[in-house]
Amino acid sequence: MNGGGDCAGLNAVTRGVLRAAEVRGDEVVGIRRGWAGLLEKDTVTLKYDDFERLVGEGGTELETSRTNPLKRDKGLDTVARNMNSLGLDVLIAVGGDDTLGVARELSAMGQKVIGVPKTIDNDLAGTDYSFGFFTAVDEAMKMIESLQTTGRSHSRIMVVEVMGRDAGWISLYAGTAAGANMVLIPEFNGTVDDAVKLVNERRSRGKKSTVIVVAEGVNLVPRGKAEKDEFGHELFAKAPGESNASYLARYIEEKTGYETRSTVLGHTIRGTRPNSYDRVMTSRLGIRAVEAAHAGKFGVMVAISGASVVEVPLAEGTKKKYVDGSTWKELNQFFV
Ligand code: F6P
Repeated sequence: MNGGGDCAGLNAVTRGVLRAAEVRGDEVVGIRRGWAGLLEKDTVTLKYDDFERLVGEGGTELETSRTNPLKRDKGLDTVARNMNSLGLDVLIAVGGDDTLGVARELSAMGQKVIGVPKTIDNDLAGTDYSFGFFTAVDEAMKMIESLQTTGRSHSRIMVVEVMGRDAGWISLYAGTAAGANMVLIPEFNGTVDDAVKLVNERRSRGKKSTVIVVAEGVNLVPRGKAEKDEFGHELFAKAPGESNASYLARYIEEKTGYETRSTVLGHTIRGTRPNSYDRVMTSRLGIRAVEAAHAGKFGVMVAISGASVVEVPLAEGTKKKYVDGSTWKELNQFFV
């Protein structure tokens, strides 16, 4: 079962599970549409043969959803009852902190559950990286490079917004990999005026174009905090529903007079085909989840530690991992 937002490598995890199960003679039932599938008993019998060619396929054949049984009346009991009536020996739940949080509750109720940590945001503790992250970074990096090219051609300031609800990992890694000039992330909140300062400084050094990456999770000048005109009207509050990129671009152009454009990468970095790292790691995670099941290790998640796959308590997957000070200090030196 997959839960939460999709990401590159989900099919490869399923394929890994199916291969390990086939070798051991296990029967595999796919739960469709995340927890919704367990609330409604929406299942499908899976065979390795059906997934043999899907190691490089983006998205998820099983589909996913953000349905949360903890928000439904007796949702968890229904899920547990359906797991029993379906005769499931173990549930392999692939997801981020929300999905793994439900998995942890089920495990506490005595259900046999194994987790696989997944999110492009890379914000899960207990795993060095969550799969889908590096693919998303690769995609974002390519797009940022394209924006650099067109930005330089037109002497423009380019602002690009990248997904990452609570953490700035994607922005930081993609910005570093593409050689962006500034990265604004929730953990180390730069301000819109820092961006203006950098643009002006770079101009004084003869650099006519500047590329700024802003994470979607950054809280840019909410209403009530913005600069006011002489009548007390807020000049630069972010409009309701306005993207960070659009707001920041508007602000920079207004303050510097330099032509500025904004782009929101949004879901494009999520729906793509997995890169080689994510294909290999997900294949290993799928295999290891089945091995853990056969070893009777429940209430754990299979996670990445360096170049290895390890088992850690499921509860780890529900803790958040933010960009730490030392990584930021190291990489921030490039943002000039
Ligand atoms: O799955 C994580 C994530 O991609 C976040 O980066 C983003 O904020 C969110 O999902 C978007 O969710 P949805 O696909 O439901 O719009």
